[in-house]
Parts: sequence; C-alpha cells; structure tokens
Amino acid sequence: MENRGRLYQDIQEILVRKEEISNAVKMLGEMITRDYEGKSPIMVCILKGASVFYVDLIREIDLPVNMEFMMVSSYGHGTQSTGNVMIRKDLDIDVHGRDVIIVEDIVDTGITLSFLSKIFAQRGAASVKIATLLDKPARRKVELKADYFCFTIPDAFVVGYGLDYDEKYRNLPDIGILKPEIYEK
Ligand code: IMP
Ligand code: MG
Repeated sequence: MENRGRLYQDIQEILVRKEEISNAVKMLGEMITRDYEGKSPIMVCILKGASVFYVDLIREIDLPVNMEFMMVSSYGHGTQSTGNVMIRKDLDIDVHGRDVIIVEDIVDTGITLSFLSKIFAQRGAASVKIATLLDKPARRKVELKADYFCFTIPDAFVVGYGLDYDEKYRNLPDIGILKPEIYEK
C-alpha cells in the first residue's frame, strides 16, 4: 500500500494494478492505430472520469488525432445512475463527416454511452465507436457493446485511475473496489 496509505485505506480490494492498466492501454492504442490507419479520428474524452485513461491512451496512438472534451452528467453524488443524461460541456468542433471515438471510463447501465452515440450519429459523424477502460456488463439497462475495452469487471463500485466516488479517489493509480461503508454511511 506504499506511500498513498490515505487513499488506499478506503479500498476493499485492488482489482487492476497500474502495470496491468498500462499494458492494456498500450495494446488498445496499437489496435486503434491499426484500425484507423490513414484516418484522423476525433477522440472525445468524457470528463472527468475518462481523463486519466484518455491522456495515457492518446499517447499510444500513432495517428493525427483531434483531442476533444465533453462533460455529461447522469450520476449526481450517489453510486446509482439517475437515467437522465445532461450535456454540461460540448465539443468545440463539428463532427460532421468525421470518425469519432468516444473515450469513457466505464460502461455501467450503458445509458450515457447510448445517449452519446446517438448524438454523434445525429450530428452526421462518418463513424462512431466506443473505447472504454472498464465494462460492467452485469448492470446494463440498455443494449450497448463497447467496440474497444480493456477490462471486464464484476458488479461492484470501483474507484481510481480517473473513477471517483463523490469526486474523490480519481488520483489512485490502481483500480479498486471501494469499501461499501464509505458510501453507505
Ligand atoms: P452508465 O451511464 O450507467 O453506463 O454510467 C456511466 C458513468 O457512471 C461512468 O462514466 C461513471 O462516471 C459512472 N460509474 C458507473 N459505475 C461506476 C463505478 O463503479 N465507479 C465509479 N463511477 C461509476
Ligand atoms: Mg463519475
């Protein structure tokens, strides 16, 4: 638990260590580089959760990508999706005719990503794909398959590597299951 004892105290179990994350992100970057050869996709980072994954991933992609950021909210302060998605910060550029890769931290119910995929399709993107760090298939409410993902995880609330609980734990280098007593109290 090294020198970050304070954050790790609230972690029940580490699910994915930073070395594993780093290897998976590298492989994903190589895969995207191959799949988009000759193209210049717009990489859309969904703030804030995907930010850590995003900055690591784009540096493993050997293509002239556009960096774009979008902020949506569906969660509020709890651990359950409210089902409503709101755009709080939109892109700066037009996606019409462009290849879009949405970069997300986790697919849980699938509500956020199905909403975003529809929005980019409506705006006339040439293609829309989803790259997610984590996939939690047990909790899907809408049918959604990520085109790229690094890890499938069980039905537990996780934090770290960008993922938060109440805006905390994003700077934890590993991905861990949060102790339930933290959000149950
Ligand atoms: P969805 O719309 O239910 O798929 O939820 C997507 C969003 O919920 C993600 O972008 C996360 O911000 C958040 N979320 C879902 N599961 C977790 C989790 O286990 N830990 C932290 N955030 C989560
Ligand atoms: Mg979040």
